[in-house]
Amino acid sequence: MIQIALATAESYQGTPPDRQAETFQEAAQNMIRNTTSGWGSVSRWLHWILGAAIVGMLAYGWWMNHMPARADRVIYRSIHADIGYVVLLLMVVRLIWRSVNPAPALPADTPRWQRIAARISHWALYLVTILVATLGWAHSGAHKPDYADWFGLFRVPQITSPDKAAADAFEERHIFMAYVLLALIAIHFAAALWHYFIKRDRVMARMIDGEPGQEGATPAATADAA
Ligand code: HEM
Ligand code: HEM
Repeated sequence: MIQIALATAESYQGTPPDRQAETFQEAAQNMIRNTTSGWGSVSRWLHWILGAAIVGMLAYGWWMNHMPARADRVIYRSIHADIGYVVLLLMVVRLIWRSVNPAPALPADTPRWQRIAARISHWALYLVTILVATLGWAHSGAHKPDYADWFGLFRVPQITSPDKAAADAFEERHIFMAYVLLALIAIHFAAALWHYFIKRDRVMARMIDGEPGQEGATPAATADAA
């Protein structure tokens, strides 16, 4: 009898308190973590902060190398290297976060070739950014003087030892890969604009507001997006 009375009270008030607490907890977790239809806050913040830092590093790197030679050039290179170490560290953190979270599925009507292209280009962005920064780091250790001093606070351990020929080779590859990265970002940016202005789906918006991207994502589509 008592059980029936309780059950009836519950059905009047909707979700029982225990379940409500669980639902809030799940919702809060989903806001931080990715779901199969939306990017969580951690992924979105990492995307935009690192996106701005990487584009800034490309522009700054170009500027510091192309400004007329001057005595304090080395200081600008040190600042570039110091920000580069942080970018590298955060890219690794982001990669780990991405690997322990689901990747939101693309809209259900996305053709297979576009799913594959998105997947390849996202992984290429990760890989090439990490490669560019690592080549910069390798150049630093091989160069004399190195760029190990982190804003005057401590020394970043170096992965190479002084060697003029190696320093030149790492520098050349660092710069070449920086331009490969620029090309990948240009393609990525064009794809985002295409989603926003032409296809008019929520792919761009969900990277900004974190709201779920689409209805009707199939399990197959979800698996493809990962
Ligand atoms: C994702 C991170 C990075 C990006 C996007 C980037 C990009 C660039 C670019 C665009 C240039 C100049 C290219 C040109 O001459 O046109 C450059 C030069 C340079 N970078 Fe980076 N870089 C990054 C990380 C690093 C790191 C971590 C270091 C060192 C620890 C570093 C050290 C250098 C140095 C020393 C130069 C000047 C090389 C020279 O003497 O010509 N970079 N970088
Ligand atoms: C230039 C402005 C940029 C715009 C408008 C933009 C837009 C977007 C959008 C809309 C997505 C979500 C795709 C989806 O939901 O499937 C995304 C994902 C992604 N973007 Fe960008 N992006 C920009 C810059 C960059 C830069 C500079 C990088 C450099 C590494 C980058 C790397 C990534 C990666 C790796 C992903 C996959 C999601 C993740 O793991 O974070 N983006 N971008």
